[in-house]
Amino acid sequence: MDKLVLASRNKNKIAEMKALVSDLGIKVYSALDFPELEEVDEDQDTLEGNALKKARYVHQHTGLPSLSDDTGLEVDALGGAPGVYSARYAGEKVTYQDNVLKLLREMNGKEDRAAQFRTVVALVTAENEHTFEGVCKGVIIDHQRGEKGFGYDPVFLPQEFDQTFAELDSKVKNEISHRGRAIQKFISFLKG
Ligand code: IMP
Repeated sequence: MDKLVLASRNKNKIAEMKALVSDLGIKVYSALDFPELEEVDEDQDTLEGNALKKARYVHQHTGLPSLSDDTGLEVDALGGAPGVYSARYAGEKVTYQDNVLKLLREMNGKEDRAAQFRTVVALVTAENEHTFEGVCKGVIIDHQRGEKGFGYDPVFLPQEFDQTFAELDSKVKNEISHRGRAIQKFISFLKG
C-alpha cells in the first residue's frame, strides 16, 4: 500500500491520524483533498457500522485504500451513553461545548465517574475490509480543564494520568488514546 485516504474532514482527527501513520512511508490524503466527496450520514447503530460505511464510500469514490474512524464516549453511570451518539449528544448540529455541557449536567452528583473512549478504525481496500478497535479508560471530571485536543477532551482524565486529554501534549494523547491504540493495531496489521 503506497497511498491511503483518511475518510474524514475533521481537522483534529486528520492531524492525529496523520501523525500516527507518518513513519509508514505512505502518501496520506484525507477527504479534504477530494472536495467532490459528500458527507456520509453516520446513521448506523454501532461504531463498526459507521466506520465501515465511511471507509466504503471513500474507497468507492477514490479507488484508493481508505481508513476511517468512528469514536464514542461510553460512560458507565449513563449506561454506556452517549456511545455511538456522542457527536449528537446535545442534539443535531451542536458544538463540542454543547455536548460537554450536557455531559457535565448529566453527571452532576454521580459518584461513579468511570468512562472509556472507544474507537473503531475501518480499512477498506479493493481486496478486503478490516476493523481495528482501541479503548482508553478514564474518568469524567466535574469541570473542564485544558485547551488542547477537541470534543470531550477537557472533561476526560485518562487512567493513571492527572492531566485531561485537553491538558496533555498531543504526542502523549496519541500514544495512549483510543484512536492511537486502534491505529497502532492497523500499523501492526500492515507490517504483517
Ligand atoms: P465521531 O467519531 O466523529 O463520530 O466522534 C463522535 C464524538 O466524539 C464527537 O463529538 C467527537 O468530538 C468526539 N470525539 C471523537 N474523538 C474524540 C477524542 O479523541 N477526544 C474527545 N472527543 C472525541
